Amino acid sequence: DQVPSGVIARYRPWLPIAEDDPVVSLGEGSTPLIRAHALSDELDGEVWLKVEGANPTGSFKDRGMAVAVSKALAEGSTAVICASTGNTSASAAAYAARAGMTPIVLLPAGRIAAGKLAQAVIHGARIVQLDGNFDDCLALARQVADNYPVALVNSVNPVRLQGQKTAAFEICDAFGDAPDVHVLPVGNGGNISAYWLGFRQYAEQGMTSGRPKIWGFQAAGAAPLVNGAPVAEPDTIATAIRIGRPASTELAIAARNESGGLFAAVSDNEIMAAQAFLAQREGVFVEPASATGVAGLLALKERDAVPAGLRISVTVTGHGLKDVDTALGALDPIDSANADVVPADLSAVASACGF
Ligand code: F0G
Repeated sequence: DQVPSGVIARYRPWLPIAEDDPVVSLGEGSTPLIRAHALSDELDGEVWLKVEGANPTGSFKDRGMAVAVSKALAEGSTAVICASTGNTSASAAAYAARAGMTPIVLLPAGRIAAGKLAQAVIHGARIVQLDGNFDDCLALARQVADNYPVALVNSVNPVRLQGQKTAAFEICDAFGDAPDVHVLPVGNGGNISAYWLGFRQYAEQGMTSGRPKIWGFQAAGAAPLVNGAPVAEPDTIATAIRIGRPASTELAIAARNESGGLFAAVSDNEIMAAQAFLAQREGVFVEPASATGVAGLLALKERDAVPAGLRISVTVTGHGLKDVDTALGALDPIDSANADVVPADLSAVASACGF
């Protein structure tokens, strides 16, 4: 079928996959962990990026989807359903296609980045666009899964978190120990819960000498965990984390509390500035939601709230190509893609090149 790769092949003893269960994989995981030189300088420490956009469908969701779809197939499901701000639906559609299952996705109408919608369409998902937000979509996806023969593959399915925890394992395996701090964006609260599970398990089994503090960042217009209360009308340019009632609220709070970590909010402007910083200083193009952790780190540094000398890993959750409209929309048109068209001769081109 393929050379063994993917999170199940790499971490099977740590996952709820039986010996004879089928494995649905697209070779997810084993993503780059790269030193962020400019960020390390800014932070006066050691900052590393876990580049989850390098997964098969361009986001961290593939880790959990490999395990959730494998499990759904083992249990005899022929269809999967999810609510999504875009990445979960892209991943569910791809893994269901690979497994020969029918993907059904519930999306908030008009709030999905074009690249993500294209993925669901091209993988053959049945797309239901809802006149409502992500929280409404998730409530309905749960009801459909309760009443009809279809497996729910949102992160409320605990198997998803099992798959996603493998990113924490990879970071510890690469460092030979846990980092001091792990930073990530938080929307529905699934990924932060999965990382905490992974870091905890590795420490409990003696694979690491300790556990990192977990710093979770939300967009200011969609920050229920920071505010300590649900947000009825969440709003942010980072559509992936436009969520007002995180399904994994309790687990996310436990990750923050047990690790001695923190939650904080960043503005849309800070998110877009962090996206540009990552692209222009580190060479890593991520979607807006994925820059939220870096935005948070820079904001805390600004307030002198980050001690020097820490080893910090930061998950950048999804690929920038998923949402080029937002990326280009934030640029100054004079400096960017809308540059003048020049005649095809050397002096005009050289001058346009800045020589
Ligand atoms: N970053 C990206 C790019 C995401 O797509 C998501 C969530 C998150 C961060 C937050 O992760 O929800 O586990 O706290 N996207 C979900 C989706 C909601 O439907 O694709 P979380």
